[in-house]
Amino acid sequence: MRRSSSFLIFTVLSLPLISAVGWKLSIPTTTTTTTRPVGRSSNLRVREGSPFRIAIFADLHFGEDTWTDWGPRQDLNSVNVMSSVLDAETPDFVVYLGDVVTGNNIAIENASLYWDKAISPTRDRNIPWATLFGNHDDASFVWPLDWFSSSGIPPILCPANISNSYDGGCTFRGTTRVELIQQEKKASNALSYSVLGPKELWPSVSNYVLPLESSDRSKPAVALLYFLDSGGGSYPEVISNAQVEWFKAKSNTLNSDLRIPELIFWHIPSKAFKKVAPRLWITKPCVGSINKEKVASQEAENGMMRVLEKRSSVKAVFVGHNHGLDWCCPYKDRLWLCFARHTGYGGYGNWSRGSRILEITEMPLRVKSWIRMEDGSVHSEVNFNL
Ligand SMILES: *[C@@H]1O[C@H](CO)[C@@H](O)[C@H](O)[C@H]1NC(C)=O
Ligand SMILES: *[C@@H]1O[C@H](CO)[C@@H](O)[C@H](O)[C@H]1NC(C)=O
Ligand SMILES: *[C@@H]1O[C@H](CO)[C@@H](O)[C@H](O)[C@H]1NC(C)=O
Repeated sequence: MRRSSSFLIFTVLSLPLISAVGWKLSIPTTTTTTTRPVGRSSNLRVREGSPFRIAIFADLHFGEDTWTDWGPRQDLNSVNVMSSVLDAETPDFVVYLGDVVTGNNIAIENASLYWDKAISPTRDRNIPWATLFGNHDDASFVWPLDWFSSSGIPPILCPANISNSYDGGCTFRGTTRVELIQQEKKASNALSYSVLGPKELWPSVSNYVLPLESSDRSKPAVALLYFLDSGGGSYPEVISNAQVEWFKAKSNTLNSDLRIPELIFWHIPSKAFKKVAPRLWITKPCVGSINKEKVASQEAENGMMRVLEKRSSVKAVFVGHNHGLDWCCPYKDRLWLCFARHTGYGGYGNWSRGSRILEITEMPLRVKSWIRMEDGSVHSEVNFNL
């Protein structure tokens, strides 16, 4: 969509805690191997003596208004935001939290061109990253209404072999989630930790777990990072029952005794975010700086939140999608629900751009977060006590 139609992101941070007593950890190495993307030789690992820092880039919306000067200029602005955040924070890892591109504005067959531009500031700095999908990434092209105004249809060339679904026109089907991720990995210099999730969960594609390993190889993972596809674009905005079952099975295998803190990332806030939303001002215990919109949640709740709230190891959920929200609030006294910060110049809204940063310290285990703005300022620090 156009500027006015973008969505949200959300991210959540999580936090860890390690309260469980007694049981033995079981993180079968074979399991982590299967989640490891082809082409990379290592898992994410904390460097000894140094906190592990993650920058979240939410709602970049590359590829808007591609037929004007405005659109490409916004993409450049977004590159500048990412560059200034990456240079100020020097993160160990980047999470692209969905709506990386606005597929419905991309009048070419291959949206990977824009996806790749969005990834480039991170890849150019040799920083590894992971992506997940939002509701705009695989949306198919929508002809702008003003193309049919009196000024006439602009000169756009329909590729000869594109399927004809409009009377006499051509249409661009959009680049699928699977194609986007495959192309990302191909062009990643082995820095992409994104995973083409289990086929039985398709059309939801970005479902996977990345263990963050301890600097001490004899120790269990420091945290588990879960990525889920909250839908939208080519299919409804939901986290399905099948994904809930997948999460249960995966988390029980990797973290049966709940000792490893778990952080969850997806794009569209679940309905639970509405329950914790501040009315007007962001007051304690919530932490944040903008509360300018209503939470635009997923269409249905199929049990994911019930599962998360029962797992003491789950510390936070991070979403994007709402560009005018950047708060973190506790939910049921158990875990934190956090919005990222709108990073892109694409997408609706003109609130200043930034990035939510997560920092995981191993000894002693701590997880905290803050927001780093394009202009270098920092605010809204929050500790997820473990
Ligand atoms: C899509 O674009 C990427 C560059 O972003 C290119 O490497 C790839 O070959 C293209 N794929 C197709 C099918 O044209
Ligand atoms: C269209 O498809 C035909 C047959 O597959 C091929 O020969 C031709 O080069 C294609 N044209 C374009 C512009 O891709
Ligand atoms: C967006 O914000 C910037 C900086 O505050 C301002 O210069 C610009 O005019 C705003 N753009 C719109 C469309 O409101």
